Amino acid sequence: MLKKSLVAACAITLSAASLTACGSSDSGSGSSSGGGDGALTMGFAQVGAESGWRSANTKSIQDTAKADGVDLKFSDAQQKQENQIKAIRSYIQQKVDVIAFSPVVETGWDTVLLEAKRAKIPVILTDRSVDSKDDSLYETFLGSDFVEEGQKAGQWLVDNADDSDVNGDGTINVVELEGTTGAAPAIDRKEGFDEKIAADSSIEVVASQTGDFTRDGGKKVMETFLKSQKDIDVVFAHNDDMGLGAIEAIKAAGLKPGTDVKIITIDAVKDGMTALSKGEINYIVECNPLLGPQLMDLAKKVVAGDEVPKRVVTEESAFDQAQAKEVLADRQY
Ligand code: AHR
Repeated sequence: MLKKSLVAACAITLSAASLTACGSSDSGSGSSSGGGDGALTMGFAQVGAESGWRSANTKSIQDTAKADGVDLKFSDAQQKQENQIKAIRSYIQQKVDVIAFSPVVETGWDTVLLEAKRAKIPVILTDRSVDSKDDSLYETFLGSDFVEEGQKAGQWLVDNADDSDVNGDGTINVVELEGTTGAAPAIDRKEGFDEKIAADSSIEVVASQTGDFTRDGGKKVMETFLKSQKDIDVVFAHNDDMGLGAIEAIKAAGLKPGTDVKIITIDAVKDGMTALSKGEINYIVECNPLLGPQLMDLAKKVVAGDEVPKRVVTEESAFDQAQAKEVLADRQY
């Protein structure tokens, strides 16, 4: 049974040395029902606050938990795996009903997931998956198909190759701003993109480096690329924020983003879509952050012992500049 009253989402402040929980009224009760008063208690270990996408994702989860009367214990791992592991262990100690998390990187989760399994606490993966041989360590994975997102980006470039040889030398030189090293979206988006551009031998990735999914990271890496690479035709950024950082670097170098250098990104958050509609980005593949409603739904089913699909894929689209102008006003995030 779920508590009807509003239960505040709480934050856990994590540092390398400490883990401090700020609880809702019943957090940390240690009772086997988590909340102790019938509320479903969820421990959620978020990646961080690295991008506009992540902020929208956090808001969706917190707002839906509040609306559904789910007692949410929320932690921000600041993009550090050790912080997420500490948070998950703290949720196990608190005997929450269900743990959900978006793994910052793919590998290194088996030990802590086994601890959750032994404590009989179901785990839901959301947004990003883990690379583990044992899929009994989690109930389900809700999130995007990142390989498909990379494929859409690569296919657009192949389809628009004629317009993308900005320097007119017969070769399309691409620089790639990768997401966090070891993260599922960085690995999969690269794979999908590379697979599609292989169809056109004039397209070549001449440099590729991580910008850690942040705007500042994208700007700094792009500044380096602009100094070290000749004749950059295209930027492929694994998210909007890094693309937006690249735009700042391109402008500072006296070039026109979207014209002198073509830009392809992934996410379709409002800032990205605004840049797309202004002609500063050329194509954005959507990655939907509004996972809260589906996550809470799955959590209720898992805790009730109902069968859930092992994989739930989010539906997504992609936008060119004209389409961005049409949908911008209605964009929720
Ligand atoms: O895991 C989803 C990715 O993480 C988003 O594309 C990116 O913006 C975020 O940081």
